[in-house]
Amino acid sequence: MTPPRAAPCVLVTGGLGYIGSHTVVALAGHGYRVVVVDDLSNSSIDVLAPVEALCGTSVATYCGDVRDREFLATVLGRNPVACAVHFAGLKAVGDSVRMPLEYYDVNVNGTLTLARALEAAGVRRVVFSSSATVYGDPAVAPTPETHPLAPANPYGRSKRDAEELLADLCASDPRWGAISLRYFNPAGAHPSGTIGERPQGVPNNLVPYIAQVANGERPALRVFGDDYPTPDGTGVRDYVHVMDLASAHVAAVARMLSRPGNEVINLGSGRGYSVLEVIRAYEHANDVRVPYEIVPRRSGDVPRYLADATLAGQLLDWRATRGIDEMCRDAARFQRMHVQRAPRPARTPASSPNRALSPAS
Ligand SMILES: NC(=O)c1ccc[n+]([C@@H]2O[C@H](COP(=O)([O-])OP(=O)(O)OC[C@H]3O[C@@H](n4cnc5c(N)ncnc54)[C@H](O)[C@@H]3O)[C@@H](O)[C@H]2O)c1
Repeated sequence: MTPPRAAPCVLVTGGLGYIGSHTVVALAGHGYRVVVVDDLSNSSIDVLAPVEALCGTSVATYCGDVRDREFLATVLGRNPVACAVHFAGLKAVGDSVRMPLEYYDVNVNGTLTLARALEAAGVRRVVFSSSATVYGDPAVAPTPETHPLAPANPYGRSKRDAEELLADLCASDPRWGAISLRYFNPAGAHPSGTIGERPQGVPNNLVPYIAQVANGERPALRVFGDDYPTPDGTGVRDYVHVMDLASAHVAAVARMLSRPGNEVINLGSGRGYSVLEVIRAYEHANDVRVPYEIVPRRSGDVPRYLADATLAGQLLDWRATRGIDEMCRDAARFQRMHVQRAPRPARTPASSPNRALSPAS
């Protein structure tokens, strides 16, 4: 979808993170002006240079926390934002069990604070990063958006609560519009290899873990359980290329700018791959070996997640176009380029909110 003639300005929270950075590039490629807010708690300012290179322009980037309303008011006061895309959040299921207060604070209170700041600035459009985890252990696969929600951990519950907050807001005021996008399993990287997923510590997601094992950075992959009711006994997931996800956000922003109301849309391919299939795909796509060992099931894992992405086709004219081989190739390219580059610098403390990185304050 193409933006209206005078391209509007889009605020991207968490725009230096994995999915956010790819979406910033896609939005700029469609002519939108992009403003990024990120507290660098799970990213690095290093990401900005490759993002700007891919955008072919500078990207106004503000370092701060989405829970800081004054900071958001300053950013919104300086930029004529028409729509926000809200990626900023915490995403590790295991951490959410250990630190529920942090997860509710960042994911729910962060969304609430952003919504209040947007309301005060008269910007009543938001595209929200939700997750398939809101379904819990779905009774039906592929799973449609109408499936009952039964998240099984604080992370999933914080995403459900944020979705409901936005739905209530839209119900209270017909000027508001929100689209919650429920991602299944994002994977892959930009084909340039310059941006991708850079997990801090042990990767939570399968493909970055495989990439580190294949690169010799970790000895072996642990496959949690081979006794699930799936064809080879390992868990099946619906992987979606991060470039496809970025395109879906561009379509969602265009839709948001044209109409209000609340919508919830799954983003997946509808095709599932088991853990062993992903390992084989990665080995085949990159001509490498991925050592692995089977270990007992991990508590909280479900056998199968598969998206029914029919609604995304109908409302966004979107479908996943890139397959697992492309995800594996692109992830491996990013991993190699990342490892060859200088080691990641120390994390910038999040204690410097309101520091405008660019443009200069
Ligand atoms: N990657 C996945 O597997 C996946 C799946 C489903 C949903 N999601 C959701 O999508 C969103 C983006 O995920 P991602 O994989 O790009 O994660 P990410 O951690 O790479 O990106 C999140 C970004 O938000 C920033 N951030 C975190 N807390 C912040 C705060 N309080 N204020 C400002 N910035 C903050 C981080 O520094 C980071 O740059 C998250 O909300 C996540 O829950 C991700």
